Amino acid sequence: MKGILLVGGSGTRLHPMTLAASKQLLPIYDKPMVYYPLSTLMLARIRDILVISTPDDLPQFRRLLGEGSRLGLRFSYAEQPRPEGIAQAFRIGAAWLAGEACALALGDNLIHADHLSSLLRAAGARGQGATVFAYQVRDPERYGVVSFDDAGRAVAIVEKPSDPPSPWAVTGLYFYDRRVGEFARAIRPSARGELEITDLNRLYLEEGSLTVERLGRGCAWLDAGTPDSLLQAATYVQTIQSRTGMLVGCPQEVAFRMGFIGAEDLAREAAALGKTELGLMLAAIAAGRHP
Ligand code: DAU
Repeated sequence: MKGILLVGGSGTRLHPMTLAASKQLLPIYDKPMVYYPLSTLMLARIRDILVISTPDDLPQFRRLLGEGSRLGLRFSYAEQPRPEGIAQAFRIGAAWLAGEACALALGDNLIHADHLSSLLRAAGARGQGATVFAYQVRDPERYGVVSFDDAGRAVAIVEKPSDPPSPWAVTGLYFYDRRVGEFARAIRPSARGELEITDLNRLYLEEGSLTVERLGRGCAWLDAGTPDSLLQAATYVQTIQSRTGMLVGCPQEVAFRMGFIGAEDLAREAAALGKTELGLMLAAIAAGRHP
């Protein structure tokens, strides 16, 4: 399975911070935002990743991530000239995708949960259909919203409803089978002129092949599109890391734990971060001095 990391858009809700810098490169505590969804894709064992961003910002992502071999990954890059919708990623990536199954992660989403890698691997292993993850929130009108029947089956999915039918928001992490390119070609721009990811998901729902995994109380899902949510995400990461000594959303650590790189490679990555707290923590993991 391949993966797409979507890190475009104009980040208008974070102006003036995003007037001269990409939103997904802003820090969430001690790491650039894009590290968090990248770590999520890696936990799903995805190693072949297409990074899509604006023509202005793409060079910065190349600078940060490179071609990927240092982390046992392979990055490709593509431009999205204008933010014409999340589902456009599959049109832009059609040739690269070459008819394979694919997961898509939005660059401003952070998911943290104990059993996440097994959930992700199950989603990746499902040969047919699509999988999305739903999370209960107080402000569902800001998101794609999924509703369920009495038996717990997903029955409808709507984008930013003014009167939300349920509190279950669809998170920015999506798994699709090999037909995703075909489905993405079939959808048309919405009233606001975007190729909506919710319309793509609805095609799967209507043919009965959309799995909705509900993330429960033990999980955290945060997006970082506004000053408040950016601060909340940073506080969350800082709280967990300083309390437990365990890292949240660190691709270097995930690469090592997943067996994409060895201890020597991790030690080199740690050294490159110098005497930062993150560098010291990675060095301890590489040296086996950390659980
Ligand atoms: O965060 C989850 C939500 O993401 C879902 O619940 C919604 O169904 C989905 O539409 C999306 O809603 P947002 O309001 O967060 O979408 P936004 O336009 O802010 O885009 C999300 C991210 O994707 C953002 O970091 C920018 C990037 N993006 C977006 C568009 C429309 C692109 O890179 N290119 C695009 O064309």
